[in-house]
Amino acid sequence: MARRKKALGKPGKDLKDQPVPEGQHLLEVDGLKMYFHTLDGVVKAVDGVSYTLDRGETLGVVGESGSGKSVTQLTIMGLVDMPPGKIEGGDVRYHGQSLLNMSEQQMQHIRGNDIAMIFQDPMTSLNPVYTIGRQLGEGLRLHRGYTKEQALKRSIELLDMVGIPNAEQRVKDYPHEFSGGMRQRVMIAMALACDPDILIADEPTTALDVTIQAQIIELMQEMQQKNGNAIIMITHDLGVVADVADKILVMYAGCPVEFGTADEIFYESMHPYTWGLIRSIPDPVVDQKRPLTPIQGNPPSLVNVPKGCSFSPRCPYATDLCRQEKPEMYTAPTGHYARCHYASDPLFVQKNAPANSRTHKKGGEA
Ligand SMILES: Nc1ncnc2c1ncn2[C@@H]1O[C@H](COP(=O)(O)OP(=O)(O)O)[C@@H](O)[C@H]1O
Ligand code: SF4
Ligand SMILES: [Mg+2]
Repeated sequence: MARRKKALGKPGKDLKDQPVPEGQHLLEVDGLKMYFHTLDGVVKAVDGVSYTLDRGETLGVVGESGSGKSVTQLTIMGLVDMPPGKIEGGDVRYHGQSLLNMSEQQMQHIRGNDIAMIFQDPMTSLNPVYTIGRQLGEGLRLHRGYTKEQALKRSIELLDMVGIPNAEQRVKDYPHEFSGGMRQRVMIAMALACDPDILIADEPTTALDVTIQAQIIELMQEMQQKNGNAIIMITHDLGVVADVADKILVMYAGCPVEFGTADEIFYESMHPYTWGLIRSIPDPVVDQKRPLTPIQGNPPSLVNVPKGCSFSPRCPYATDLCRQEKPEMYTAPTGHYARCHYASDPLFVQKNAPANSRTHKKGGEA
């Protein structure tokens, strides 16, 4: 992977400039639990999330609003206020080192430099009183020891790279002088400024129109091809990550309910919630002929998650067992996992999976 030479800084000291230790993944989230202790009760926002990510890969994190997608990634970045938040278990390893054991000073260096996040709303993440150039240069001066002049030069390069016309002039403008799509590009430039190993994009396209959404995703992919970084793309819409994700984590009520490669999720899915998400993707991503079927009902309150399988009140296949006992994780030999009592039953999966899936076709019905 080609990496830009550092003008100043500490060559070789950053984890991102070192090879990932053998047998480790770039990022390993292992049974992570993060609960909020509130006056209303304990909000189990992240309840045992596990996934792995390597350089050059894109992970899609999908689930309805309130399923714990953002809090999972904020926990990884050390950005959750504690209290009310509290880590209740699990670990997050970056280059084999636990991020949960790092000091705030170490985490400040990791944030922006090694792992960077693009937040959902660029207007609340950009400071209205500073120029775009100053905000872009801040990370470079802090993490890389750039001078003001070096930071300005690099900021212009970055704006140019993300397709902002007339970057030399625009670098002096304030956030309100940019359109929504352009601000989102600035956020990407800011996140990419220090060449992070991992770019976390939290629903970065939700407020944008479809054409600009496509441009932003394309831009992130272009940057990934150049830099070899990993991307975590958070979205409530499985369709958004259909073409870009290598792996997909499906979350429901704070828990991962399914994880696998994009092909496994789209064509060999084993979980009824994932089937519901697939059936509610607008055409033409999945299948032009079938009608859209939204998932009935609403996700539960995370203070009061239903007994047994948390999806049981909305699941068309729920049985008494589902309503009584929390399902164990079923893991296929490939590492593809699902948390459903019936995930390991090929007949159940073949009979009920969406018609587009290979699983279904294997059952001879497609
Ligand atoms: N600071 C907080 N205090 C208490 N609960 C919170 C806090 N932040 C988030 N939550 C709760 O955690 C749950 C997961 O939220 P979030 O990760 O933002 O969902 P998503 O990103 O999937 O829409 C939600 O129920 C939300 O209300
Ligand atoms: S465990 Fe039961 S309720 Fe839960 S997803 Fe599977 S079939 Fe549906
Ligand atoms: Mg969110």
